[in-house]
Amino acid sequence: MSEHSFSVLLSLLSPFLNSTIPSIPPNFVLAAAIYRLAHGASYKAVGRRFGLDSVDACRAFYAVCKAVNDQLGDLFEFRSDISRVLAAFGWISLPNCCGVLGFSRFGVGGELLGANGSLLVQAVVDSGGRFLDVSAGWPSTMKPESIFRQSKLYLGVEESRELLSGPVFELGNENSIPQYILGDSCFPLLPWLLTPYVRSDEADSFGSMEKAFNAVHYRAMGLVGTAFGRLRARWQLLARQWKEECAEFLPFVVVTGCLLHNFLIKCSEPMPDDNMRSLKEEELPVFDGQVNESGERMRDALALHLSRVSLRR
Ligand SMILES: *[C@@H]1O[C@H](CO)[C@@H](O)[C@H](O)[C@H]1NC(C)=O
Ligand SMILES: *[C@@H]1O[C@H](CO)[C@@H](O)[C@H](O)[C@H]1NC(C)=O
Repeated sequence: MSEHSFSVLLSLLSPFLNSTIPSIPPNFVLAAAIYRLAHGASYKAVGRRFGLDSVDACRAFYAVCKAVNDQLGDLFEFRSDISRVLAAFGWISLPNCCGVLGFSRFGVGGELLGANGSLLVQAVVDSGGRFLDVSAGWPSTMKPESIFRQSKLYLGVEESRELLSGPVFELGNENSIPQYILGDSCFPLLPWLLTPYVRSDEADSFGSMEKAFNAVHYRAMGLVGTAFGRLRARWQLLARQWKEECAEFLPFVVVTGCLLHNFLIKCSEPMPDDNMRSLKEEELPVFDGQVNESGERMRDALALHLSRVSLRR
């Protein structure tokens, strides 16, 4: 993190750090927490470097996580600045697209979640690798669809209708499409959540429309993997397996990492490589529930549009 970004962040957070830990200067509190997040350093190592004891290093870390969660929530722009997101997807030929939805796993040791246990984090990302909406901390034993239907994202679209409620986009030929996001095949297909075409049996083959849609969709899904890869590369604390006894804090720390990741993009800091993409990211099962017909119509309309656009190139 550059000195400039650090001082901007410090000016945003320092009043809240001052009131939580008055005994330590806010620049030390912030630096100690960022150091732990970036290097995955233990409280003892952090303490030695910043002249704190381990208890204060731990308090500093959680004070910063809390201040980031409380103060920087608007950096998840799904609620605060969807017009910028829409315009950027427009540039890559995805009209009215508001994001790409997927999961990533964060490993947790111990018996709590079983062997190879992990917590799932559901996230919407934009075309520039920012996190737009994050729902963290679901046990990997839960079905992706159940997680999705309980998330604030789903409730915000289906119940309060405050999300994805903007104008429809005319695709031409009397077809139009509402605001939507693209989603992994583990999610149900909905009018506002477009998942890839799946072959019903091996003998089936896709037409040019399905192929065009799936190719664009596949590339877009890569944005989710890359965003999480960069998140782990930037904040190495998140690349490690978590101890079972700390698992309850993991969601809080993941959200902190995502917000600070967005903050650094906003400060135009260079992106780290996504070389920390977790290798054993096993695929989640493909959704096999009831087909939503209006979702199918929206997907077909967009697929037709995309296949025409790709012909014109
Ligand atoms: C855990 O992962 C190891 C290595 O990938 C695999 O051999 C083992 O079967 C997994 N265990 C469970 C319960 O999934
Ligand atoms: C499809 O999904 C929409 C939005 O969730 C819902 O309102 C509609 O009733 C569903 N249609 C069918 C046929 O299931």
